[in-house]
Amino acid sequence: MGTLFLKIASLYFLLGVGMGVGMEIAGDHRLMGAHAHINLVGWVSLALSGLVYVLFPKAGETLLAKLHFWLYNISLPLFMLGLVYLLLGNDSLMILLQIFPNILVLSVLLFVINIFKNVKAEDINKYLGRG
Ligand code: HEM
Repeated sequence: MGTLFLKIASLYFLLGVGMGVGMEIAGDHRLMGAHAHINLVGWVSLALSGLVYVLFPKAGETLLAKLHFWLYNISLPLFMLGLVYLLLGNDSLMILLQIFPNILVLSVLLFVINIFKNVKAEDINKYLGRG
């Protein structure tokens, strides 16, 4: 799943920097919180997870990795939608902020379990040709 994580992360990167430029052009920084989350949760964290899964393919092919991927990528856009509404002063999508950040955290918990169960020092040694 590593490459899929990287591809989706690159889309978040484009969206994040696009939003940054958009805020500059509009001279309106109200969406700064969403911009920062899209760049750091959408681009940086997702790409780092993808790199871990590329480096440790055993971890990258588990059910935990698939659940991590889907829960993360369903919850993050809905979380961001709720956040954008809130930052623009509209709390009608508050329900999204009550549900989806929790699903996102759950997906991160699955990532942590996956790393602890399936990332082994001997795999990286093999990968680096150190026996
Ligand atoms: C073309 C690229 C980018 C542009 C034009 C841009 C633009 C902006 C703007 C206008 C703000 C609001 C600043 C303020 O009102 O104080 C901001 C805040 C922020 N940006 Fe970006 N940004 C870019 C890329 C990134 C990237 C790549 C990241 C992270 C990986 C990032 C993370 C943040 C964070 C964390 C904040 C909040 C800073 C704070 O709390 O003071 N930005 N950005």
